[in-house]
Amino acid sequence: MTEREQWGTRAGFILAAIGSAVGLGNIWRFPYVAYENGGGAFFLPYLFALLTAGIPLLIMEFTLGQKYRGSAPLTYARLNKKAEWIGWWQVAISFVISTFYAVIIAWAIAYTFFSIRLSWGNNPEQFLQESYLQISNPGEFGSLVPNVLIPLVIIWVVTLLIMFKGIKRGIELANRICLPILLIMFLTLVIRALTLEGAALGLESFFNPDWEKMKDPSVWIAAYGHIFFSLSVGFAIMITYSSYLPKKSDINNNAFITGFSNSSFELLAGIGVFAALGFMATQAGVSVDEVANAGITLAFVVFPEIINSFPGFNGFFGVLFFGSLVMAGITSLISIIETYIAGIQDKFKVSRTKAVIFGGGLSALVSLLYATQGGLFLLDTVDYFVNQFGIAVAGLVSVIVVAWFLKKLPDLQKHTNSMSDFKIGIWWRICLGVVTPVILGYMMIQNFILNFRNNYAEYPLSFLLSAGWAVALGVLVVGILFSLKKWKKDPQKSLDEGGN
Ligand code: ALA
Repeated sequence: MTEREQWGTRAGFILAAIGSAVGLGNIWRFPYVAYENGGGAFFLPYLFALLTAGIPLLIMEFTLGQKYRGSAPLTYARLNKKAEWIGWWQVAISFVISTFYAVIIAWAIAYTFFSIRLSWGNNPEQFLQESYLQISNPGEFGSLVPNVLIPLVIIWVVTLLIMFKGIKRGIELANRICLPILLIMFLTLVIRALTLEGAALGLESFFNPDWEKMKDPSVWIAAYGHIFFSLSVGFAIMITYSSYLPKKSDINNNAFITGFSNSSFELLAGIGVFAALGFMATQAGVSVDEVANAGITLAFVVFPEIINSFPGFNGFFGVLFFGSLVMAGITSLISIIETYIAGIQDKFKVSRTKAVIFGGGLSALVSLLYATQGGLFLLDTVDYFVNQFGIAVAGLVSVIVVAWFLKKLPDLQKHTNSMSDFKIGIWWRICLGVVTPVILGYMMIQNFILNFRNNYAEYPLSFLLSAGWAVALGVLVVGILFSLKKWKKDPQKSLDEGGN
């Protein structure tokens, strides 16, 4: 029986978990999701989702992985044979995310170089759409765009090399290198943003909730979806990472350190981004709401505009911003990929090398779709659907199954409290067993209705059906199909015998 690989040190695990959580979600996704969902108004549902769902779910996933010592499918199979499909569903979601996540990092690599000479010129929006992405129409793929393809190949080579090296010498080491660099670059950037003229105006807009917006269920779903994405919960990552923990580990502390580090970083990113928006609004003599534009290109349009109008060292700040995206992105991408590497290894009993070649290779191939001229629309749609109807639903279903059907919360609470310095109380079971299922469940139903009535981003229905709904449903179907294959060795027995 081969022993499961373990993290080198406790700090190594915490760094990797923080590295996973702090990612494109915090820097690239947060500003546009916040902007599209009412700007400052987003802050309240965000905090609510974080405290009642995000952190409690993080504790649940850490406990599951550490207790059952397996990839998400193996962990759920050990929890209850009938629950294995949830693990595969989450792994399939991760697979889809990795295909577009790598592409955004590729854009960021290109933009790090563009920053040096401010190559985007006076009209960054036009530059992005026409010169860089050469976009066509939704559903029309056109040809591969070399400017995206080249950095995309680079990012896949780097990530897969890290993956080949394994947990300790690959993932842990990569986090030890990338995270300090990220922190230094990002702190410098935020401090500079805060000292710009008009920064206070941006912050005022960030922290000023609009109560009217609170009535809209899609704002709440966006908040939940974002929190799950940002904390890396609901899509198999934290279960997989904690399965490499030693048999005695302080889970509660680890979860709080990870959760609060991620939120602090996101708050920092929010402050930095809105301060910069405040600066831009002041320069243009308009309100903060008017300077941002919606959509996933916010970081690649508004930031170049802000960088253009910086009082000095413009290129340097561009490098800091896009370089931060690259660093944060890599440490998250490896965690997303690890979910299916581990799943394939556990179920099919193949070597890590084979699992990386097969899983990573397939994901790299699929990601080429987003490097085409129609890639941007595809990415926007897949990102939206896989978040709102993938991660958020899978997170909700996992909570309902564990809390209501399997009634495992008291067991898990006992397990984690038995080895943690700081104990979690009844609030944890209330958040997961009552608050999250009721509120997220209600919002989810409303959101389904809303999406059936209105086409997301006014894209054609045929495109949404094939690129959005089909992907959201597809990951579930793939999850169920994978769970039908029999294990070579009974999952429970192999746990009792102490192996993989
Ligand atoms: N948690 C990762 C992020 O925020 C996936 O980007």
